[in-house]
Amino acid sequence: MKDVVTLTRPDDWHLHLRDGAVMRAVLPHSASQFARAIIMPNLDPPITNTEQALAYRTRILEAIPNGSAFQPLMTVYLTDTTSPSEIVRAKESGHILAAKLYPAGATTNSNLGVTNIYKIYSVLEEMQKQGLILLLHGEVTDPEIDIFDREAVFIERVLTPVIRDFPTLRIVLEHITTQNAADYIREAPATVAATITAHHLLYNRNAIFNGGIRPHNYCLPILKRECHRQGLIRAITSGNPKYFLGTDSAPHSRQRKETAYGCAGCYTAYAAMELYAEVFDASRALHQLESFASFNGPDFYGLPRNTGTITLYRKYTLSPDRFSFGIDDLIPFRAGEKFEWQLVK
Ligand code: NCD
Ligand code: ZN
Repeated sequence: MKDVVTLTRPDDWHLHLRDGAVMRAVLPHSASQFARAIIMPNLDPPITNTEQALAYRTRILEAIPNGSAFQPLMTVYLTDTTSPSEIVRAKESGHILAAKLYPAGATTNSNLGVTNIYKIYSVLEEMQKQGLILLLHGEVTDPEIDIFDREAVFIERVLTPVIRDFPTLRIVLEHITTQNAADYIREAPATVAATITAHHLLYNRNAIFNGGIRPHNYCLPILKRECHRQGLIRAITSGNPKYFLGTDSAPHSRQRKETAYGCAGCYTAYAAMELYAEVFDASRALHQLESFASFNGPDFYGLPRNTGTITLYRKYTLSPDRFSFGIDDLIPFRAGEKFEWQLVK
């Protein structure tokens, strides 16, 4: 049994940092684990153009702890009125790698998202031409569709036509949650990949209702059945380079989680690599962790792999039960519970 794992410093290919006091509270956690992260643009108001993305990048850089070389990789938020010329500007900035499609109404701050994929076909055409990557929140918003089936229906109604119509556009189906999605990605062309979160690998949907309703385990896409969790584990331990790490760490204040109309999102960034290590270890696949966390993402994005390393030790620790920022608390995923691995900081 391995008790120490050293691997090339990983990257997080899907991260919510927010802004202001929350950003300052959470950024040091990501910066201590990852070299780079793809920063989600669903602020309020969202980051819909190059100018906003560059200003947001500056605010992030100013908040990075001294001595950290963490690099935020920026994205823009697609709306029904995004223009192809905005894509050209984004690419020319040199700091924007991808554009994010939120189906309107699918999740936190997605109201200004895209209402119909065909409305942005000229934008997708330009992204294909410019080499900007398309990031997908892969859930339909049709209220007729059961919440547990929204990813599967998105694949059929949106992803399949987009892959067909834009054969060289690079696409990431983010935070996949089902066996079907993992199978689909495996069989898709090499231009299509997927990220997987730690929480979808660790928990099934029982975790939302374990002894009472658990708002801190509520995220979107929602946790699925155990057979799907097992399918995701098979995917990451298969060694297939199409799957890579994206935490979807999504901090919300305690007040906005523990309420009658709570926000979706799990805060995992404070212990992301510890959580992923636990998953790989439980499947006796720690040797596969490095490609998932440190190689497959940069290879897909066409970026160099990182040069430094991180080390994880097998050691039982208790996680903090809260982080504080300003006037509120942030309750992390697995607050106050046992961890099996510890990252040396
Ligand atoms: C994310 C958030 O809070 O911004 N929430 C979540 O449950 N994952 C949005 C998202 O990625 O869906
Ligand atoms: Zn997200």
